[in-house]
Amino acid sequence: MSAPILETVGLCKHFVTRRPLIGAPTVVRAVDGVDLRIARGETFAIVGESGCGKSTLARLLIRLLDPTHGSVFYDGRDIAALPREEMRRLRRDLQFVFQDPFSSLNPRMTVGALIEEPMRAHGIGDAAQRRAEVARLLARVGLRPDYASRYPHEFSGGQRQRIGIARALATGPKLLIGDEPVSALDVSVQAQVINLLEDLKDEFGLTLIVIAHDLAVVRHMSDRVGVMYLGEIVETAAAQTLFEAPLHPYSRALLGAIPVPDPARRGQAPAALTGDLPSPSAPPPGCRFHTRCPYATELCAAERPALRDAGPGRHVACHHFECIGAGHGLPPPPERAPHVARRFALYRAGSERMSAARRGHTTNQTTGGMT
Ligand SMILES: Nc1ncnc2c1ncn2[C@@H]1O[C@H](COP(=O)(O)OP(=O)(O)OP(=O)(O)O)[C@@H](O)[C@H]1O
Ligand SMILES: [Mg+2]
Repeated sequence: MSAPILETVGLCKHFVTRRPLIGAPTVVRAVDGVDLRIARGETFAIVGESGCGKSTLARLLIRLLDPTHGSVFYDGRDIAALPREEMRRLRRDLQFVFQDPFSSLNPRMTVGALIEEPMRAHGIGDAAQRRAEVARLLARVGLRPDYASRYPHEFSGGQRQRIGIARALATGPKLLIGDEPVSALDVSVQAQVINLLEDLKDEFGLTLIVIAHDLAVVRHMSDRVGVMYLGEIVETAAAQTLFEAPLHPYSRALLGAIPVPDPARRGQAPAALTGDLPSPSAPPPGCRFHTRCPYATELCAAERPALRDAGPGRHVACHHFECIGAGHGLPPPPERAPHVARRFALYRAGSERMSAARRGHTTNQTTGGMT
């Protein structure tokens, strides 16, 4: 990879929570030693179960949170160590699209004022130039320029998410992070917003980091994927490679809910994920996944596996991924557990609806009111 736009080294965020009067404080290891390299211009997705630390990591990446330990290098500069004023200036480059388009827009501000606010904060243009830019951005995200005088409550979820995207683009960012940017929207609207993000990425030359629960969205959008488990990255790989042949047992279980198109390969379906995610305040020793891993050995319980090279652009944190991948001495694949079978059916229905919506959608960015 050429010089990455973003790189993290040993990144940690530990939250100390105190329950009044009782007991000692607990330390929640939300992000615990993440090393990541994100290439300029790529779409990088972060996946993992609820509570594994995806949002915390996303916030650390653009210093919406300060890390407990470790560094985040943006264009070679450690943003975790930047003085406040320099960080404020750099914020122009680093923008965030939030999950909930209902709570992330101030209901007392007009759409125009919401989109103009970041430009004002960074001293971009004069009032007339900013108004013209607001109109241009609204048109660019598929909304009518005269919507600038209206308030967020007058719009649907999809339209509000477009307003949020226009606001994020107002400062001319280089890196955009979307934390579940479409999961609050209807499936047909999701496809439109994803198409819009992809178009904007090319047009504005953005690097995108996307967090998504929906693996169909991840597979469709991303160039590379990082799989997260209990505050750690356990595998990174090109999206296509990861979906076709995940190496880490956790990735295999997580992606095991995805239909295998080739009937000959169905018998090799990976073990279903069982049990709950352990608490990030008391992560298991050794490999954090060993308590749920069908392939775990004594070594896994004793020693934390490092993220190791596993081919071009690919890293895996598992003591045994080579053997598991080669199928040596593995237990026979169990039947899918009922909850996984349900997820499987839901996933298939969702991705079929999404494909149908994508086929029916013609890019029409200027008429507005689509969503
Ligand atoms: N401000 C905070 N104080 C204490 N604990 C926190 C705080 N923010 C997050 N956590 C904890 O850190 C862990 C990771 O949370 P995070 O929101 O990053 O997970 P996530 O992967 O984004 O989950 P989801 O998919 O549900 O959004 C969770 O156990 C969460 O309860
Ligand atoms: Mg989250």
